[in-house]
Amino acid sequence: MSNKIWIGTNWKMTKTLKEGLAYTEELNELSKKVSSNIELFIIPSHTALIPIHELTSKSRIHIGAQNMHWEEEGAYTGEVSPRMLEEIGIDMIELGHSERRQYYNENDREINKKVHAGLSHGFTPLVCIGENLEQKNNNISKEVLAAQLKVCLKDVTKEEVTKVMVAYEPVWAIGENGIPADATYVAEAHAFLRQQLVELYGETGAKIPLLFGGSVNLENFMEYIKIEDVNGLFIGRAAWNMDSFKQILHRLDDLFA
Ligand code: 13P
Repeated sequence: MSNKIWIGTNWKMTKTLKEGLAYTEELNELSKKVSSNIELFIIPSHTALIPIHELTSKSRIHIGAQNMHWEEEGAYTGEVSPRMLEEIGIDMIELGHSERRQYYNENDREINKKVHAGLSHGFTPLVCIGENLEQKNNNISKEVLAAQLKVCLKDVTKEEVTKVMVAYEPVWAIGENGIPADATYVAEAHAFLRQQLVELYGETGAKIPLLFGGSVNLENFMEYIKIEDVNGLFIGRAAWNMDSFKQILHRLDDLFA
């Protein structure tokens, strides 16, 4: 296990502002007791970013947004630009989540533009990649992951990539209908991703945080976090409920005691 791990949650389209504030207040308190080896982050909806950023301004919780456009401004109805997010003061930008790829047809080339835009505004891009069930069944998971990684990180320099984090989220493992992945499968995928990152960036690639996500829950999180190349967990449902997130954090905290 790494000596620093990233643990965070993507709220997707769930919490209202009121619900999000109540959750964040509890997490603020909890974060004071959690080991500094654990980096905490939450990724609320755009509507909650400003108040939640204010609420966490004195805490160690990192705040991210779930998506953004790559242009500075323009006629893109319904979109939010990097300038707007920089004004709020977010730390991270989640890019290329499988739900964005699946329902809004986001592709790796667009994600790459967003990665560059995020970096130029000082955000940490959290780049999400993962194969879908058909790709897995056709035994092309590694080819898919290598291609996603290469295109999403195209023209990102060695220096810039020190700010990037990658989340491996097999599409078939995510959400209500997701099937949790075996730890051995995750270990193999992460070792492969690490090898790809090292091929692309040398020693710098060995240090890029690689997070795992997809049906992470109270039963399986410990197995995943103990995998050598898993440097964090990107959690959905099991972290939306503060009681279950608390249990996960307490048990992870014990690992650093
Ligand atoms: P679940 O943990 O609910 O499967 O969601 C994971 C996820 O999509 C994190 O981005």
